[in-house]
Amino acid sequence: MYVNVAVLKETHPHERRVALVPGLCAKLCALGARLHMQAGAGEASFLPDAAYSDVLFVSSGGQWLHEADVLLAVQAPSLEVVGKMKPGSVLLCFVYAQKNPALVQRLLERQITCFAMERLPRITRAQSMDALSSQSALSGYYAVQLGSVQMSRILPKVTTAAGIVGPARVLVLGLGVAGLEAIATAHRLGAVVEGYDVRPETAEQARSLGAEFVDVGVDARGKGGYARELSEAEKTQVAQVLTEHIQQADLVITTAAVPGRPSPRLISAAQLAGMKPGAVIVDLGAEGGGNCEGCVPGQTVTIGRVTLMAPLNLPSSLSQDASLLYAKNQFNLLALMLKNNVISIDWDDQILAQTVLTHAGKLMHSLNPADAATQEKTS
Ligand code: NAI
Repeated sequence: MYVNVAVLKETHPHERRVALVPGLCAKLCALGARLHMQAGAGEASFLPDAAYSDVLFVSSGGQWLHEADVLLAVQAPSLEVVGKMKPGSVLLCFVYAQKNPALVQRLLERQITCFAMERLPRITRAQSMDALSSQSALSGYYAVQLGSVQMSRILPKVTTAAGIVGPARVLVLGLGVAGLEAIATAHRLGAVVEGYDVRPETAEQARSLGAEFVDVGVDARGKGGYARELSEAEKTQVAQVLTEHIQQADLVITTAAVPGRPSPRLISAAQLAGMKPGAVIVDLGAEGGGNCEGCVPGQTVTIGRVTLMAPLNLPSSLSQDASLLYAKNQFNLLALMLKNNVISIDWDDQILAQTVLTHAGKLMHSLNPADAATQEKTS
């Protein structure tokens, strides 16, 4: 007996990642999986079909999808694909259900057991399955690279016969996984780095990675380790302190997010107008509308003499490493339920119970991501 595991070629625009990498095939087979992949699924991550062993490659149509017990994907599959899935089968992918009600309806109709990767609890035992973290870390790294090539300055201090060039100043706003990785990267590249977040516990984390923490005197810790929205008075207090730091920076990277809410606004048009000529902002809040006023999600714009970049889906730009980490996250999650050649779901397991979105035609949780995010940490 086998569990048929299928992997789709991603079809969302600009999505280059793939949910299975060659190094995991033998491990999945050892758990009892029989692997089917859509031909060319790994191509955009420079993983040709020939690099995979123990996989049966199939064309896009066909019976294999109807027979799959488990479907692995990065982005949520199309309604058409879900419509072809076997009732009772398991789907693992990012869903963002609140933005995708038609998909949720189809998952319910088809009785799919769907685990939404973004719902995974941020607890210690789930860290190896945490795709939000693995992908955010890559985004934080890449934001520094992207910003630095737009700058007309270098990041480190350099001494030459012609004189000394001082280090650039990098300010990172929002110190979750992406922000801390941005600090570490900018520090490694020799910049003078500052960081700011509304959660005071990030001060020590920022310092341990080589940054100064900008203390604005506001504590906006929310539930489950996330931030809450700021009041109007708090926003004014923050802006008063941050303005000076924003205007001294050569590169600002913003990563602030509040679950279920639009990206908080951290840089106003007036603050931007006072920035150094040639300064660059990389706004990773672009997916939620942007942390910076004037942000155009998916585009780079010039406002006055400042370059404002608002890239979307950065992990896809690093598709080889992003796929490697994402596939490992999914493998570790699937290993909780794929044992001895069968799928067996322990609903008492906090990780599975919290990550599941739909099961047996029922919506298992509210569609609001804030509700998932704010379930208390238990370890
Ligand atoms: P996120 O993507 O939800 O938010 C990014 C950052 O923006 C957060 O640090 C948040 O505090 C900050 N932020 C929100 N509003 C802000 C504002 N107005 N001004 C400045 N900063 C603002 O965060 P991410 O990376 O998803 O991490 C969320 C939490 O989960 C963190 O507490 C993190 O330490 C925790 N975590 C725990 C893990 C575990 O224990 N297994 C694994 C990964 C993350």
